[in-house]
Amino acid sequence: MPETPTVDLGGKVAVVTGSGRGLGLAYASALARAGAFVVVNDIDEAAAERAVKSITEAGGRAVAECVAVGTGEAADRLVGRAVEEFGRLDVMVTNAGILRDRVLWKMSDEDFDAVVTTHLRGTFTCARAAAVRMREQGGGGRLILVGSPAGQRGNFGQTNYAAAKAGIAAMARTWSMELARAGITVNAIVPVAATAMTETIPAFAPYVEAMREGRPLPDFLRKGEGFGTAEDCAALVPFLASDAAGDVTGQCVGIGGDRLTLWSHPREASVAYADGGWTPEAIAAVWHTSVGSAPETVGIPAPKSPGE
Ligand SMILES: NC(=O)c1ccc[n+]([C@@H]2O[C@H](COP(=O)([O-])OP(=O)(O)OC[C@H]3O[C@@H](n4cnc5c(N)ncnc54)[C@H](O)[C@@H]3O)[C@@H](O)[C@H]2O)c1
Repeated sequence: MPETPTVDLGGKVAVVTGSGRGLGLAYASALARAGAFVVVNDIDEAAAERAVKSITEAGGRAVAECVAVGTGEAADRLVGRAVEEFGRLDVMVTNAGILRDRVLWKMSDEDFDAVVTTHLRGTFTCARAAAVRMREQGGGGRLILVGSPAGQRGNFGQTNYAAAKAGIAAMARTWSMELARAGITVNAIVPVAATAMTETIPAFAPYVEAMREGRPLPDFLRKGEGFGTAEDCAALVPFLASDAAGDVTGQCVGIGGDRLTLWSHPREASVAYADGGWTPEAIAAVWHTSVGSAPETVGIPAPKSPGE
């Protein structure tokens, strides 16, 4: 029997943005259970303090740093707090997020900017501050970014969010190359879970309510849709933070319910050639029988109930 690998983060220091509640809290708690010291960040001070209390009561070590991610100053504060409090930084998890859903023609500049600032700029600034510190420190590190099925496939009503999350997946691929020599791995996780952000989705709402009343989620959700609790997603973060994942980088890894998945990266699906190059007429003549004969699908497939 092969030995089960151990995931021991003793002596490691992590920052988790937006970890006052939801998935971020589950990640911070799982990192602390594996032995890491954690800086809990949130804009909601009371939630951050509650998170620290629950982690310390469970035997872990954590401190709260209340700041809105999105600016370079906020990112510097988070990295500075990790170093000041625990002496180093090994893991940055960029999880903080908000939604401002509207269809394109109704989306305001403010809706767009708020989501892009928190997710895309928040990820960029926190990862940059972490990379600077980790490169100075030596010994590598881990950047764990947070994508979404909406960013992988597009989603109705989520121009701002899908754009930000697709950008985050692109940054993970780019940084995995740039930071390889420093031994810093960069991956984007793609979680799906019942949280404040998702529990109102009509297809999931009745099941989430049943779950809150203590009834388990059915298999068609946990296995079929990969939908479960925030805690179901949490194991992936300590794994990616650990020595066991030292060679895992540039990947988008999905987790939710009972499922763990590897997302494919965009690649050319079909190709045609025209000697000397294409004219509009030549493309029109072959499109439906050649490159365009099997168009790619868009959007997150609607959940299927049993029997459908
Ligand atoms: N829940 C899902 O199924 C799902 C799916 C895909 C991706 N995600 C992503 O996972 C992350 C966490 O989502 P969640 O479902 O736990 O959401 P949530 O709303 O429960 O938690 C998000 C947390 O981030 C905090 N926050 C918001 N803006 C912030 C800022 N500028 N600075 C610091 N903290 C801030 C909030 O106060 C909150 O505590 C988000 O990036 C989200 O896009 C979630």
